Amino acid sequence: MNNPIDFQSSLTESVGLSTGPMPTSLYTDPTQFELERERIFRRAWLMIGRVERIPKPGDFFVKELALFKASVIVARSEDGNIRAFHNVCAHRANVVEHRSCGNAKRFVCRYHSWAYNNAGELANVPDESGFFNLDKKKCGLTPVTLDVWDGWIFINMAPAPEVSLVEFLGPMADAMANIDYPNPDHPIVMRGEFKANWKAVADNFSEAYHVASIHPRTLAPIYTGKGNPFCRPISANLYGAHRSLSLWLNPTYQPSDKSKVSRWLFAADQTITGTREDGQINAIVEHKGVNPTKNENWSSDINWFFPNWHLQISANLFWTHEFWPTSSNTTVWEARFYKRKPTTVRERLQLEYFTSHMADTMLEDLGNIESTQVGMESGAKPFIVFNESEILCRHGLEQVIKWTAATRVNDALAQSV
Ligand code: FES
Ligand SMILES: [Fe+2]
Repeated sequence: MNNPIDFQSSLTESVGLSTGPMPTSLYTDPTQFELERERIFRRAWLMIGRVERIPKPGDFFVKELALFKASVIVARSEDGNIRAFHNVCAHRANVVEHRSCGNAKRFVCRYHSWAYNNAGELANVPDESGFFNLDKKKCGLTPVTLDVWDGWIFINMAPAPEVSLVEFLGPMADAMANIDYPNPDHPIVMRGEFKANWKAVADNFSEAYHVASIHPRTLAPIYTGKGNPFCRPISANLYGAHRSLSLWLNPTYQPSDKSKVSRWLFAADQTITGTREDGQINAIVEHKGVNPTKNENWSSDINWFFPNWHLQISANLFWTHEFWPTSSNTTVWEARFYKRKPTTVRERLQLEYFTSHMADTMLEDLGNIESTQVGMESGAKPFIVFNESEILCRHGLEQVIKWTAATRVNDALAQSV
């Protein structure tokens, strides 16, 4: 093994974070949540999808943002540009598009058939002469600020964003730019609503301390082993408001050969990490931002873009988690695992096997996330404590505290560790 992990020194302290307990009220206080909505989610750039989701002119998807009581259409216009609009008609404010995705030259409100082109302009009004001084140019769909970075589509819900997307991403943009993502047009989507604060959901997917305890059969054989029984991270980096962590791989891991069927269904990239015998490892591992210490016993990286999405990368695969609050103690979670399109029956079955394996894993997480929220809301513990392995959770909370205190975005970014 090269680059052995030094478990004696503290990652948390080495990157300048505090080590004290953190207040539980950050997860339970409705006033805190209101502050987060206005000072974090309404001011931060929010990732809502990849460009491959809408490759052709007219392709669109609708993002429901319960947090803002908003629905946003994201569309590729005829000129090839991607734009976002509030999904609200200029006539009497009905919702215009009721499909979640599709291809449309026009978005037609079904109430009185006002029609908008896919650049958001009002194109047709039935019985137009019956209106009073109607200026159609001023009656387009209301734009939402949108920008694209490295194939990722972001929106900003501020009336006028205080900083650009690149300024917001800061050092994370430098570290993670120009990654050649494998299979970016073929995600397996998992979605669910958790009865927990968005940070409690995000925390779960940000640490591997729980792996040995709640995933003994699904993930622990891959991520833990002799020399690292509690799945300590290899390294961690803080990038302004954002953060990343590299996880260890058990070098002796082999898929079970107890069952011939499961062996047959086990693709080389079956696990989220792949296996060490897999000869088809993607060039993604060469990128400077991926496994930054280039540790030989690396399994995957968790990159947590503030505030609410993860971009996770392994040698064979990348996947994302989005955490969208719907109230102070409910969250919509959406995950996308980008997998190769199957070309044979066996590959199709392997994909199903992968999906059910991941679903089993997620179910192991689910109960614990929700019961954590129950425990926090009891008020029995005004503070929680974080292990070294939970460094991303700690940095996340520190950023939440900074952003909710800062009256200007530049102050929040300037204060970032
Ligand atoms: S509300 Fe949309 S056409 Fe009337
Ligand atoms: Fe988990």
